[in-house]
Amino acid sequence: MTEAAFEVAAVLARSGSPSPGPEARQLVAHVLGVDVASLIRIDGVTRAQRAAIDALVERRAAGEPLQHLTGEAHFRYETVAVGPGVFIPRPETEVMVGWALDQLAARPADRRRVVELCAGSGAITASLAHELGGLELHAVELSDAALPYLRHNLAGTGADVVHGDMADALPQLDGQVDLVIVNPPYIPETHRALLPSDVVDHDPGLALFSGPDGLDAIRTVVRVAGRLLRAGGLLATEHDDSHAADVVELVAGAGFEDVSSQYDLTGRPRFVTGVRGADGGRIAP
Ligand SMILES: C[S@@+](CC[C@H](N)C(=O)[O-])C[C@H]1O[C@@H](n2cnc3c(N)ncnc32)[C@H](O)[C@@H]1O
Repeated sequence: MTEAAFEVAAVLARSGSPSPGPEARQLVAHVLGVDVASLIRIDGVTRAQRAAIDALVERRAAGEPLQHLTGEAHFRYETVAVGPGVFIPRPETEVMVGWALDQLAARPADRRRVVELCAGSGAITASLAHELGGLELHAVELSDAALPYLRHNLAGTGADVVHGDMADALPQLDGQVDLVIVNPPYIPETHRALLPSDVVDHDPGLALFSGPDGLDAIRTVVRVAGRLLRAGGLLATEHDDSHAADVVELVAGAGFEDVSSQYDLTGRPRFVTGVRGADGGRIAP
């Protein structure tokens, strides 16, 4: 079996895959319907399995994301369903979720109402639901194409899935939410041509781009968080690593307190947190 995985890895390496070995093992395991750890116990592949592997390798070599070929993505302890039309969750978002879990765990049981804006596949909300009990969860997503993935991935978590624009979502919760968490679109439109084709051709534009400076969605997030959060409620918003100072300014400028720039696993500034003050964090639409 390792032989087939080695051959696949060699093809992927030649096609420029950044991690041919792990990708090869995942593709082969996917076709065989086993987990990667079990590959070592498999003696060989049938002709039909080999053909299926080769077909996937060809698609991967042509630039399709591995996660679209296997239909799943891994995020913290979650495996979520993904495919064309929904953003593939990225590891750089995982630290923000850890921060949120620590904050929520330290709060009283009646102060654990959470709204995730721009929920995509639901990886963030699913992690919150499974890693800490007793949360009231709401997940807001605008994209029609992402909605089936979001509903599927959050089935059984008790999360309320809201299909709509974050700008006017959940007005019935105004002033009653304890945490707003969001990984919004944040790439400047002007950077479209600079992105690798496996991102720009396969992640939906609505998930990536946000106005000329990349900050349009975050401006909306700050406004919506000011509306939804109660005094003392928390905002955590991911951002492009070049935008830390801008996002700190936007959040602090809206009257949030204890505004802090936080780092991802690679040491890059990746998300900003703030506390809605008694009078701050509410700005006019
Ligand atoms: C970067 S993706 C993040 C998805 C998911 N939270 C994650 O971290 O994997 C941003 C998501 O925001 C959604 N989105 C963009 N504009 C929105 C809006 N105005 N209201 C709600 N969702 C929006 C996109 O469709 C996309 O699913």
